Amino acid sequence: MPISPRAIRSPNIKKILEIGSFTGFSALSMALALPSDGLLISLDKSSEFSIKAQSFYKKANEKKIKQIIKPAIESLKELKDSSQKFDLIFIDADKENYLNYYETCLELINKKGLIVIDNVLWHGEVIDDTKNDKFTNIIREFNKHIKKDSRVVKNIIPIGDGFTICIKK
Ligand SMILES: C[S@@+](CC[C@H](N)C(=O)[O-])C[C@H]1O[C@@H](n2cnc3c(N)ncnc32)[C@H](O)[C@@H]1O
Repeated sequence: MPISPRAIRSPNIKKILEIGSFTGFSALSMALALPSDGLLISLDKSSEFSIKAQSFYKKANEKKIKQIIKPAIESLKELKDSSQKFDLIFIDADKENYLNYYETCLELINKKGLIVIDNVLWHGEVIDDTKNDKFTNIIREFNKHIKKDSRVVKNIIPIGDGFTICIKK
């Protein structure tokens, strides 16, 4: 579920990182809410989806989005090595790497910046004891990790498939 433009329209949010863009719906929604000097870096490993996304950015005449097409782990390392910092990071790619993404994002986020993570309720399966498949357990472990993380203030917003919003202390 994409983040609505109104949710991110804040004078404190100028630089956004999105991990997992698909055809660009959430990236475009967020970029449209940025000020004119804002920037959104969108990461996706799929050139097919990224080309499609770019066609929508062009149609919307939206020029604040920079796409990086490669596995997100590699892009994150490059962003970290070049000391980039963001005001908002949206994590919405492969669930196997959520923990890696989250930990790296904590180094990329500004103090008081937001890390938003999608799909944390996993269709409600995280609270169903009869569900023990790989992905349900990955999300469960991820949620437990964030719950005990004192580096952030956090809450789960139970809309769509569940968002966790973390504010870096
Ligand atoms: C759920 S979709 C993103 C949806 C998008 N955020 C939205 O709300 O419109 C997940 C995307 O993550 C990308 N993805 C999956 N694994 C990835 C990886 N290891 N590195 C980068 N992107 C990845 C997929 O190609 C897919 O486009």
